[in-house]
Amino acid sequence: MAHLRVAGFDVHKSYLDLAAQKSLLDVVRGLVTKAPLMALTTPGGKKMSVRMTAAGRYGWITDQQGYRYDPMHPNGTPWPEIPEDILRIWNELTGYDREPDCCLINFYGEGARMGLHQDKDEKSFDWPVVSVSLGDEGLFRMGGVARGGKTQSIWVQSGDVVVMDGAARLAHHGVDRIRFGSSTLLPKGGRINLTLRVVS
Ligand code: SIN
Ligand code: FE2
Repeated sequence: MAHLRVAGFDVHKSYLDLAAQKSLLDVVRGLVTKAPLMALTTPGGKKMSVRMTAAGRYGWITDQQGYRYDPMHPNGTPWPEIPEDILRIWNELTGYDREPDCCLINFYGEGARMGLHQDKDEKSFDWPVVSVSLGDEGLFRMGGVARGGKTQSIWVQSGDVVVMDGAARLAHHGVDRIRFGSSTLLPKGGRINLTLRVVS
């Protein structure tokens, strides 16, 4: 399927060319050095298969206490700032003068997946969610705002940028699986997803 037919959902295929993907990967590596990736635990006590960290005023975390945004990495240091190269993507695609205050960094190793969920820990849903894919392709599934409705799936590739705005802002979405090793961007394989959000 070329495109998901959900109002407010947009996939900008190959938004970043290979050179831009490589330089963005270097930027992400710099962030991960400052704020190491973590295997977080859901409130129900399950370890997530996707490893996470963040940049910005807030990072999204989860543990036995629940899902939330926190101004600190669990190691006690503030998250690094969101680099200009990442903010530029948001600015170009949304045209809003409000910048995101969280850049969630998701790393999918072999076998990692993310179950269907809504992004709803933010104070307001008036701002879009912008999501950048790097590395291995992932099977992105999208449903409606209500739980349990019909879903559609598309493969998102390195350099693609997904925008969820309007009616799609609170749509259920997830990543069923990745095709490990399908991209050569990350020498050891895997998929990186950057999710930009306005939190407060
Ligand atoms: C997410 O919803 O947090 C991640 C989506 C993705 O990896 O494409
Ligand atoms: Fe999400």
